[in-house]
Amino acid sequence: MKVRVPTLLISVLFLGLISVQAVIRLQAQEGEAEQDLSLLLPDEEGKILVAAYCSMCHSLKNTLVGSRNQEQWVNTIDKMVFEYHAPISEEEVEVISSYLEKHAGPKNPIKEIPMDINTVSREALARLSFLSHEDGQRIMQFREEKGPLSDIEQLAEVVDTETIKKLRPYLTIHPR
Ligand code: HEC
Repeated sequence: MKVRVPTLLISVLFLGLISVQAVIRLQAQEGEAEQDLSLLLPDEEGKILVAAYCSMCHSLKNTLVGSRNQEQWVNTIDKMVFEYHAPISEEEVEVISSYLEKHAGPKNPIKEIPMDINTVSREALARLSFLSHEDGQRIMQFREEKGPLSDIEQLAEVVDTETIKKLRPYLTIHPR
């Protein structure tokens, strides 16, 4: 009789632990996709350098939303090199600044990260390389017809749930 209560208690705790673990595992499976900002860098010469160097000390965010010409980027990168000791060579500064003028220059469509689904441009959305051209078009058309959207989930009417899961880390909805 004396052993029964602790045995019961231990069994209950043990079962509890198992179910908590199961829930955690389930959440991990269904979990949010991770944000990988290097995915917003177009595949061209310079991408690897930007992805590697410009995320060493801080997020890629301030680089991706930039709107500087090549000379301004050279000045920015020089500051990273001379003030913060970024290990970037002169030749690499040339390649990186030319890449950034092209993709984070005065015409950069990316204005903010995450991007507001109600205001994001077609060009900025297209930078999400996992998004097909057709899905991008469907999203823009849906926004035009049903917008402003109040929940990213509404996109389920035009793209599959796997795509929505991938999109989530890059999109937001600002209160209006
Ligand atoms: C060795 C560390 C380091 C590396 C590598 C680095 N940065 Fe920075 N960066 C910093 C620090 C520290 C700050 C914040 C202080 C500041 O704003 O000056 C900063 C701030 C910035 C800013 C915001 C301030 C500004 O001047 O506009 C931009 C943009 C930027 N970095 C771009 C880059 C780019 C592009 C690269 C890759 C070529 C890069 N960083 C690599 C350390 C680094």
